[in-house]
Amino acid sequence: MRADRPEGPDRRIHFGGDYYPEQWPEEVWAEDVQLMKEAGVTLVTAGVFAWARVEPRPGEWDFGWFDRVMDNLAQAGLRVCLATMTASPPPWLSRMHPEILPETEDGRRKWPGGRQHYCPSSPVYRQYATRLVEQVATRYAQHPALEVWHVGNEYGCHIRQCFCDVSAADFRRWLAERYGTVDVLNEAWSTAFWSQRYDSFEEVLPPRLAPTFANPSQQLDYLRFSDDALRQCYLAELAVLRRLTPDTRVTTNLMAHHKPVDAFEWARHQDVMSLDFYQDPYDPDEHLRAAFNFDLMRSALGGQPWMLLEQAPSAVNWRPRNSPKPPGAMRLWSWQAVAQGADAIMYFQWRQSLGGAEKFHSAMLPHGGTDTRAFREVSELGREFASVPEIAGTRSRAETALLTDWNSWWALELDSHPSTALDQALINRAHHRPLFDAGVACDILPPSSELAGYKLVVVPNLYLLRADDARRLARYVEDGGQLLVSFFSGIVDERDRVHPGGYPAPLRQLLGLRVEEFWPLDEGVRVPVEGVASAGPELEPGTEGDLWSEAVELEGAEAVAVFGSGELVGRPAVTRHQYGSGTAWYVGTRLGHTAMRGLLDHVRQAAGVDPVLPGLPSGVQATVREDDEHSFLFLLNHGDDSAVVALPEPMSDRLSPGSGAVTSVSLPPRGVAVMER
Ligand code: GLA
Repeated sequence: MRADRPEGPDRRIHFGGDYYPEQWPEEVWAEDVQLMKEAGVTLVTAGVFAWARVEPRPGEWDFGWFDRVMDNLAQAGLRVCLATMTASPPPWLSRMHPEILPETEDGRRKWPGGRQHYCPSSPVYRQYATRLVEQVATRYAQHPALEVWHVGNEYGCHIRQCFCDVSAADFRRWLAERYGTVDVLNEAWSTAFWSQRYDSFEEVLPPRLAPTFANPSQQLDYLRFSDDALRQCYLAELAVLRRLTPDTRVTTNLMAHHKPVDAFEWARHQDVMSLDFYQDPYDPDEHLRAAFNFDLMRSALGGQPWMLLEQAPSAVNWRPRNSPKPPGAMRLWSWQAVAQGADAIMYFQWRQSLGGAEKFHSAMLPHGGTDTRAFREVSELGREFASVPEIAGTRSRAETALLTDWNSWWALELDSHPSTALDQALINRAHHRPLFDAGVACDILPPSSELAGYKLVVVPNLYLLRADDARRLARYVEDGGQLLVSFFSGIVDERDRVHPGGYPAPLRQLLGLRVEEFWPLDEGVRVPVEGVASAGPELEPGTEGDLWSEAVELEGAEAVAVFGSGELVGRPAVTRHQYGSGTAWYVGTRLGHTAMRGLLDHVRQAAGVDPVLPGLPSGVQATVREDDEHSFLFLLNHGDDSAVVALPEPMSDRLSPGSGAVTSVSLPPRGVAVMER
């Protein structure tokens, strides 16, 4: 396998985008390559939607045109992130085999005419797809342009789950493997309830549209199964690539914190993580959503540099209203990805389409040609990345970890709960943001991770918690760790059955408390939260909780804050428990950002976790990437005001060569500095 930090001229931040020459006459291709060079492109993704062109009829191959594309790119010294071409089956396949078409939970078929119209469990789709991969990999295994394989495309983007009969049969096979006997399944799914007992696996169906709540454990298993079915498609292609090109790295572009696809599971089968991320320029907090996703990408493969495989140069076409990125935003957000560990910055797409559903999606080379803001901004950024190749391969180190788990996410957001207003993505980000704002590096990990190296562990909400993961958390605190856990965690096991013994049974001893009743708050209702312990964090007057509250009884923990009115007046809202040589904190409501920032600042100071730079101006992000020879400090101004950042020692800005060593940096709004000691 090629190392993730190439040396010499190969050490660089790759820059480029999706390239669809099949949409253009060949005369245009030479200009493409020439303008790519002008824009600083080093890597292009090619072939993602080429299936219908390279296999126009079953088993008839037409790769000649694609050979010329690959050769043109290679001659210009460009590298290719080569797709396996299986993302969207050609019309002939679904005509021959309509059974590959996916079905919704109410039995409606999804027809061809868009893309990704295949049932992930379909053996027919997989057979035709792997036959194609075999062709592509054999043909281009030795091609000098081949850099990395790009399998499929955004698994689970359009087809998250399929409910057809083929999927049903595959689900039964999956269940038989997981549970062995139908009795074990009956127990796991609590089928004694509502007369749901199964007499054989043959009776089991996907959770199709039902008169009322479908069995939650069945729904949870179907989410697991659906993720697995998608992954089996990926793994089938991966097996072909491993056999034919064992030395070429493989990735698939994930959508990161994306509910259908468990990024931690997928990471186990990738050589490099890659992400597609599309900010909404209307939303002033998109850098925070990006920050969470970027940290997740970096952490998922142990801190290894990752690829931002797709972003928009400016506007997208698929939200109801699509704003361009204002000047400087694309540069800022691209540098944010690098600051958080990316070694490749890529776009969808190179040349803006004239036809099709994405003709109004921005491109590096817009309809207006090179004399456009988009092309100028892209080319300037390409030059900038080329000027700091030593960033590639450097890494960040975090002393804080935030734990999240797709199984828990799936279970949390099922129906028939105390509240259906809990949104895992928002809860996670509400816990990540105070760390981000403070300039604290944070890894995002599954609960099964080794935690010993972290000084602080944050658990936003782990509704579903396996007993052994709970024991791992207890051991971590016992050995001196600082842990902060938020409400409705540790409630059910992996079958979505309540842990017996009072909520949250597996965490009760560790947290030193019992939750007697959940008391979710109605929309718009806020409850005052008042600090009580002198050693606790200072809560500003006017601090409130919303969304959730609960009747906590202390069993060794002390109340740090209590509810100031309402049914739970005087009962603990935030607690702290000394456990072994560490401390476990518990938050029983949703605090606003300022209070969460205050609380997490307090806990992290207790843990001895320092920010990258003290006293960061509001809106400024600071991260460090380093290796044995280099240490880069990235400063990014996401705020609306100019900011001045004081440096601990003289450093020079690699993006302003010749400016000499300075001890402070002025950043205009959307300003970026890459400082080196
Ligand atoms: C996704 C897909 C691309 C393209 C872009 C448009 O990321 O992978 O093919 O459709 O969206 O934003």
